[in-house]
Amino acid sequence: MISERAMKMGESITLSITSTAKKMKKNGEDVVIMASGEPDFDTPEHIKNAGIEAIKSGFTKYTAASGIDELKQAIIEKYKRDSNLVYEPSQVIVTVGGKQALFNVFFSILNDGDEVIVFRPYWVSYLEQIGLAGGVPVLAELSDCVKDPELIKKYITPKTKAILFNFPSNPSGYVIPEDILKKFTEIAISNDIYIVSDEVYEKFIYDGLTFKSPASFSEKSKEKTIIINALSKTYSMTGWRVGYALGPKDVIKAMGAIQGHQTSNVCSIAQKAGVVALTASQDCVKNMVDEFAKRRAYMFERLSAIDKIKIEKPMGAFYMFPDVSAFYGDKIKNSAEFCTRLLNEEKVAIIPGSGFGEDKHVRLTYSASMEDIKKGMDRLEHFCNNL
Ligand SMILES: Cc1ncc(COP(=O)(O)O)c(C=O)c1O
Repeated sequence: MISERAMKMGESITLSITSTAKKMKKNGEDVVIMASGEPDFDTPEHIKNAGIEAIKSGFTKYTAASGIDELKQAIIEKYKRDSNLVYEPSQVIVTVGGKQALFNVFFSILNDGDEVIVFRPYWVSYLEQIGLAGGVPVLAELSDCVKDPELIKKYITPKTKAILFNFPSNPSGYVIPEDILKKFTEIAISNDIYIVSDEVYEKFIYDGLTFKSPASFSEKSKEKTIIINALSKTYSMTGWRVGYALGPKDVIKAMGAIQGHQTSNVCSIAQKAGVVALTASQDCVKNMVDEFAKRRAYMFERLSAIDKIKIEKPMGAFYMFPDVSAFYGDKIKNSAEFCTRLLNEEKVAIIPGSGFGEDKHVRLTYSASMEDIKKGMDRLEHFCNNL
């Protein structure tokens, strides 16, 4: 018999739509996939070479469960360079992607029934991860709280253990204004709750905006913040599975203990490649983000031109999250039906907003190639114009 805990877990809607679309493609169908959040760029050559070199030199054995010192040092230098934050190695852990870092944080800080404030729309995995760790996600409306940051207080109870930030956001691409982020951070500190800051899209930010980590506001905010990050998106290394967390020593130590009995270390080869990713020239990141900026402009223009679609220009990540609810009626009742029909009739794979807690919307990614984006937008336009 399957456990109650496992039965409660929903399948990741992003991964399931992507795998259906990939199957269709394999069967020879001309499918455009704008679903999963994965840059279409190859992992840069110098990073791949570091992995090859690690294999050749025999760096193929267990490492310390929490990661090799060299990589921890590279992560420390990265946060010093980018956010002027100073960490010690005991405040860093290397994880199997950002996903494991998040899992291990929730398992480290939550007792049964403890609450985590999560803004809606949210990334699909947060609710499942918090629930699996025995916690309770408490959904807060991001747009309302941005208009009036004091509103966040109404979600805080004696059971609140943490608040989760994800800016730039998946799915909306939203980047929070710095003064609002600071206000949320101050409220978290004064209520003695942790801030879990998922920064995996920090580099994907446009139109001259800059990224700010809540840890960097003050010594107090650093003490209460657990930063989650990964090399997955930044260096187009999704398959290498290297993520990390930085935070208070006791939390990182607890995460290390959990990881030691779970996966142990991240693949030794991937860790060596990670060192090079973080310490070599960052031009590859800039080139990718510059290309994404072009795709963003193109996709935004095309979506804005479709009658009945409502869209705000996202300032970060690599997603668009338009409101398609004007099409809902007898034939299409919700975002899942919109996406299913689009896939069946026009062979375009995108993700229903329901998975992100926002059924009026759908999520498209512009991390697909420009050629695919153009084809996908033509088909989406045709689909919408014929509804
Ligand atoms: C908001 C957010 N956090 C974390 C992750 C996890 O990233 P990783 O692939 O490094 O596990 C993702 C991946 O899609 C994401 O979108």
